[in-house]
Amino acid sequence: MFSFLFFASFGLVAAENGLDGWLRYAPLPSADSYHDGIPSKIVALNDTKISPVYTAGQELQQGISGIFGKELDVQYDDCTSFSSIVVGTVEEYSNGGGETDDIPELEADGFYLSVDGDSVKILGQNERGALYGAFEYLSLLAQGNTSEFSYASNPSAPIRWINQWDNLVSGGTHGSVERGYGGPSIFYKDGYIKEDQTRAAQYARLLASIGVNAVVVNNVNANASFLTEANMDGLKRIADVFRPYGVQLGLSLFFASPKDLGGLDTFDPLDESVVEWWHDVTDKLYRRIPDMAGYLVKANSEGQPGPFTYNRTLADAANLFAKTVKPYGGVCMFRAFVYDHTTLNQTLDWKADRANAAVEFFKELDGQFMDNVVVQIKYGPIDFQVREPVSPLFANLLETNTAIELQITQEYLGQQAHVVYLPPLWKTILDFDLRVEGQPSLTREIVSGARFKRPLGGYAGVANVGTNTTWLGSHLAMSNLYAYGRLAWDPTHSSERLVQDWTRLTFGLDSSVVDTITQLSLESWPAYENYTGNLGIQTLTDILFGHYGPNPASQDGNPWGQWTRADNDSIGMDRTVWNGTGFAGQYPAEVAAMYEDIETTPDDLLLWFHHVPYTQRLKSGKTVIQHFYDAHYAGSATAQTFVSLWESLKGKIDDQRYEEQLFRLKYQAGHSLVWRDAVNGFYHSLSGIADEKGRVGNYSWRIEAENMTLEGYEPYSVHPPSMASETRAIVTSSNSTQGTASAVLSVKPGTYNLAVNYFDLAIGRSKWEVFLNEESVGSWEGDSEYVLGHAPSFYLDGTSATRITFENVEVGNGDLLKIVGVPDGEEPAPLDYVSLLPVGIVD
Ligand SMILES: *[C@@H]1O[C@H](CO)[C@@H](O)[C@H](O)[C@H]1NC(C)=O
Ligand SMILES: *[C@@H]1O[C@H](CO)[C@@H](O)[C@H](O)[C@H]1NC(C)=O
Ligand SMILES: *[C@@H]1O[C@H](CO)[C@@H](O)[C@H](O)[C@H]1NC(C)=O
Ligand SMILES: *[C@@H]1O[C@H](CO)[C@@H](O)[C@H](O)[C@H]1NC(C)=O
Ligand SMILES: *[C@@H]1O[C@H](CO)[C@@H](O)[C@H](O)[C@H]1NC(C)=O
Ligand SMILES: *[C@@H]1O[C@H](CO)[C@@H](O)[C@H](O)[C@H]1NC(C)=O
Ligand SMILES: *[C@@H]1O[C@H](CO)[C@@H](O)[C@H](O)[C@H]1NC(C)=O
Ligand SMILES: *[C@@H]1O[C@H](CO)[C@@H](O)[C@H](O)[C@H]1NC(C)=O
Ligand SMILES: *[C@@H]1O[C@H](CO)[C@@H](O)[C@H](O)[C@H]1NC(C)=O
Ligand SMILES: *[C@@H]1O[C@H](CO)[C@@H](O)[C@H](O)[C@H]1NC(C)=O
Ligand SMILES: *[C@@H]1O[C@H](CO)[C@@H](O)[C@H](O)[C@H]1NC(C)=O
Ligand SMILES: *[C@@H]1O[C@H](CO)[C@@H](O)[C@H](O)[C@H]1NC(C)=O
Repeated sequence: MFSFLFFASFGLVAAENGLDGWLRYAPLPSADSYHDGIPSKIVALNDTKISPVYTAGQELQQGISGIFGKELDVQYDDCTSFSSIVVGTVEEYSNGGGETDDIPELEADGFYLSVDGDSVKILGQNERGALYGAFEYLSLLAQGNTSEFSYASNPSAPIRWINQWDNLVSGGTHGSVERGYGGPSIFYKDGYIKEDQTRAAQYARLLASIGVNAVVVNNVNANASFLTEANMDGLKRIADVFRPYGVQLGLSLFFASPKDLGGLDTFDPLDESVVEWWHDVTDKLYRRIPDMAGYLVKANSEGQPGPFTYNRTLADAANLFAKTVKPYGGVCMFRAFVYDHTTLNQTLDWKADRANAAVEFFKELDGQFMDNVVVQIKYGPIDFQVREPVSPLFANLLETNTAIELQITQEYLGQQAHVVYLPPLWKTILDFDLRVEGQPSLTREIVSGARFKRPLGGYAGVANVGTNTTWLGSHLAMSNLYAYGRLAWDPTHSSERLVQDWTRLTFGLDSSVVDTITQLSLESWPAYENYTGNLGIQTLTDILFGHYGPNPASQDGNPWGQWTRADNDSIGMDRTVWNGTGFAGQYPAEVAAMYEDIETTPDDLLLWFHHVPYTQRLKSGKTVIQHFYDAHYAGSATAQTFVSLWESLKGKIDDQRYEEQLFRLKYQAGHSLVWRDAVNGFYHSLSGIADEKGRVGNYSWRIEAENMTLEGYEPYSVHPPSMASETRAIVTSSNSTQGTASAVLSVKPGTYNLAVNYFDLAIGRSKWEVFLNEESVGSWEGDSEYVLGHAPSFYLDGTSATRITFENVEVGNGDLLKIVGVPDGEEPAPLDYVSLLPVGIVD
């Protein structure tokens, strides 16, 4: 037993940059409560440096040192010695004379963990399982659980993979990771695979700690050049740093590679030269990476080449790759995200529906895939929207392995600039009962392989971490990555428990910190759904550009088939069988009947399945349009509370992470108002129906910029119009001269919060400064494209619209308000409006 005094020198608030994620091993305040003394050594039953068991020994040493300040030696034999933490496979433990009678039967990657006095046993079914057990033990210790227990834990499914959509070549403003918001790739730079793969090793460590066993390291929109000899050597470098963590490497393939790279004149999957080419490539890869997990293939979707060029089936394509990796124990993950948007015409065809595509393409292939093919299915039928019904394909493949594709990177969900804790959304899908053949058929029991007795199945999480020390660009976004792995291991964990565990590990054990972050996290998805697209209408982001800010107008008439069919009187996709696209009929009978009938369709998916007048009554009694208005006000009001919740943590967590997250939450609070007004304004002008509560279009605290006295600034009509307050903004008249907007205030003297809404474009760092009676209130720069990480916009729109607020400003009647804007490059210091808000009011 040792003393708490040891830790006195550790400050609670040392700066942290997020790199360690939830593996900080922070000193335990009550370290002396350890039941019976900390074991005095570690015995790792494998001394090979690439063994996950060796890694487990090192990790235990590091963890115990951090948590308890006690330095333990690691030894590599003698598994029966007293006062030790023994980690290894059950088999090695038994070979070394250890007693294994008590250990329940374990599945691949499973482990047994027993803490009995100062004797701790961590035994894996395989080496990876031993490492998982070590991480679990350390997680319990780091959360202050020093009690005695013993139990076995097995994964729900064998496939627990991460997909990274990294490109070899950097491009675009947000780096080289498609839909990545945490900086450029950790693996690649300037078209090459980096020599230094330190970050890849750190990533593998984080992933191993949550039970993830493979990472597909390149974009599903793949590039043949990954298969050059030099790049295969580079892939080996990545696999080598993954291996000690039990993480296998997977690779996305470009279907036309035999032609593109191999110089053949065909990529027909049944052509002998093509088959031979892929076998040859696969052999070369496995020579370098003997434990490669396998391939991931996106074919005949969104412009990607595929078997249809040669009138071959998707099963022909998948089986080609499955055959090449089969001798090596590899797997072919084949994406079900196949649709042909070029055949969809909204204007002409009421029954056209992209949501139908997956079942139409795959159902008839059921039973034709090899047993090492896993069809990877996005959770919903469209594309990672804020709420979707579960993809009906899960209920249509009874003789095929399936995995669910979840998106950790928040493509349509705020791109890590908004906090959206995703497990509650994922659970609407995983816990859904599809009632296949009238029997209980939870999605999670289908993908685990249990329901249809499949040999393979599981989870693919699109993570897209980047070089930012926060990995995902935002500290709080990391709870999604953490929870993903834990859920893939055991999908019955509650969302609440997962965020509590994550918070304790990430920010410490203070219960007010845990409770606050838990509350904020659990409210974040419902709030986001409220202020974006509710009632199942989809997220309503700009579908043509970055998928980030609001643009409901883009949801119709677009060529992608993501539609809402909103007109002046009515809204929603009619997906019924009797009168609509027939999508509801793709579900098993009981579920199909529920969605077919407007009375039994839950409100939160009403507009997904039905086309209704804006005046349609919901089960709540409200009309659809009034619900839109109310939800957008409620959701954005909730987002304001996130700022004060976070502010209550000042001093209870380190300053660096506190400040970085506070900045983002303030931005989110402002942007939630942009969302509210853009969506409400759009449907208000479309439907012509007034808000019963008189809020929409009635902003009594605002001074429109275009209504101020302008010098060097001129009015600008924003498109679509509802993306700016009163449809107009101002921009500087030239890109080299500053502009001034001023107004004499007619207000009740007092203390106000002064909010300024402006547009922060993709390029340029304009500067603004606000004055009251020539005295500066504050200044800022249009630099969010370098700070927030979300897809930026080149236009004045719902993506670039931003709010900054100066709090507690004393204002007198007749005061002169002046804003000076200095343009930079192509950013003309755009301004939308000023809101002078009595303290306590947000508008
Ligand atoms: C030790 O680890 C290496 C690398 O993982 C493995 O090949 C070997 O089989 C292990 N040895 C034993 C005895 O488990
Ligand atoms: C510690 O963890 C074990 C295993 O999960 C659990 O059974 C036990 O209840 C926990 N103890 C405390 C005090 O939380
Ligand atoms: C693959 O990458 C190369 C550059 O390395 C680029 O020239 C080529 O256009 C890319 N191919 C595809 C299909 O994206
Ligand atoms: C494609 O294959 C199907 C069935 O194998 C056959 O009926 C059809 O004629 C083929 N089409 C073309 C264009 O070759
Ligand atoms: C759909 O059909 C209409 C009417 O023929 C046509 O104007 C429009 O361009 C078509 N849209 C697409 C995406 O093909
Ligand atoms: C049935 O479909 C037609 C389009 O074919 C549509 O105009 C009509 O509103 C739908 N009826 C109902 C009751 O939804
Ligand atoms: C979402 O909006 C509904 C409807 O106005 C409201 O009842 C609910 O409290 C809101 N939830 C959040 C988290 O904003
Ligand atoms: C129909 O919607 C358009 C906006 O798309 C709007 O300009 C027009 O005023 C609306 N018509 C009616 C009758 O509300
Ligand atoms: C506008 O809002 C104010 C309160 O802010 C309210 O008194 C007024 O009635 C509203 N106007 C309309 C037309 O609803
Ligand atoms: C614009 O300013 C005029 C007077 O300067 C005022 O009457 C009007 O209400 C203002 N409009 C808006 C939208 O601010
Ligand atoms: C992390 O990203 C944020 C913006 O997303 C940026 O401010 C910060 O400098 C980045 N840090 C590193 C180490 O890349
Ligand atoms: C200013 O605008 C002109 C005309 O649009 C453009 O040619 C020039 O490049 C811009 N200057 C800067 C510094 O962006």
